[in-house]
Amino acid sequence: MLRNVNLKPYNTMGVEATADYFTTVHDLRELKAALAFARANRLPPFILGGGANLLIVCKALHRVVIHMAIMGFEVVGESQMSTYIKVGAGENWHQTVKRMIGEGYPGLENLALIPGSVGASVVQNIGAYGSEVAQFVKEVDIYDPTADEVRTLKAVDCDFRYRHSIFKTSQARDWVVVSVTFALPKLWRANLSYDDLAQALSGVQRTTPEAVFDQVVAIRKRKLPDPEHLGSAGSFFKNPVVTREVFQALLERFPSIVHYRVAGNMEKLAAGWLIEEAGLKGVREGDAGTYDKQALVLVNYGKASGAELWQMAEHIRGKVNDLFGVTLEPEPVILRD
Ligand code: EPU
Repeated sequence: MLRNVNLKPYNTMGVEATADYFTTVHDLRELKAALAFARANRLPPFILGGGANLLIVCKALHRVVIHMAIMGFEVVGESQMSTYIKVGAGENWHQTVKRMIGEGYPGLENLALIPGSVGASVVQNIGAYGSEVAQFVKEVDIYDPTADEVRTLKAVDCDFRYRHSIFKTSQARDWVVVSVTFALPKLWRANLSYDDLAQALSGVQRTTPEAVFDQVVAIRKRKLPDPEHLGSAGSFFKNPVVTREVFQALLERFPSIVHYRVAGNMEKLAAGWLIEEAGLKGVREGDAGTYDKQALVLVNYGKASGAELWQMAEHIRGKVNDLFGVTLEPEPVILRD
């Protein structure tokens, strides 16, 4: 168990904060030992994946940070329609997508280059360019410390919704995702429902998984900052969903509002558009700001603290609320200790 560890290299926002205790776990035995240490010291554990969807607001985390490094990649079965591949929660997401395509199991290419780990992908139900990870999950293995057992949850029991899953709820507060079994379709078809992607591939002779993968990578590189060079956690807010009535009233005031029809007679608004319209694209206050090519991305331009970034987020929320009467909800986990 390490003490007073600087978490800057472990969060893509690049925020300085120390963890009272820090350990990396490679298997179930180490995970159990780390959780037992936290319990014995009456400190809450915090499971850290790739740190790509996290804003640490405090300077010192009085917790036991458990860095998930349970690895593994194995074809475990098949059905008529799918191949099942079980992947350790600590595996890097993008490398997993790449490896699957390389070994002849395409399906996840629309989700290429999303930073983070395999475990976090299901917690968050990551999505991009017309795909969501939930569409490809067969089951998830979790360790439940209360019962001291590993349980398997079928995808239907994971309550996957837009950027949401059971793993984000209080019911699952103590659970730790240890592996995800994916179901990759044997009959591959490109998902070109996202306009930019369809356009980028319109000149391509044969649309292969590799071609889709390459274009997704290119689009992301164009639109989103590379966390290696500029701190961010991807989209900082979820795209808000409003009722048809609220939407109609907004449409009258803002005819060019960007929106998508979703189930339940609701309308999803593009938070990036709302933020840009509120005049906050590319703003900067000290080192905290928004990205100049995508207003939905909160950026650490240098040495912004978690508190400063959160202040900027609150400022954005306030402005968007004043102008549109819509409340933006943060997408990343906000850690205040
Ligand atoms: N827009 C603006 N101004 C901006 C940003 C966006 O007007 O500054 C408009 C765009 O013109 C477009 C619309 O808003 O018409 C949507 O923008 P974009 O396609 O870039 O996607 P997004 O809704 O901002 C979502 C996901 C991203 C994902 C993309 C592509 C959320 C919260 N974010 O962003 O996911 O990559 O769609 O599918 O749902 C993430 O979750 O971290 C993430 C990056």
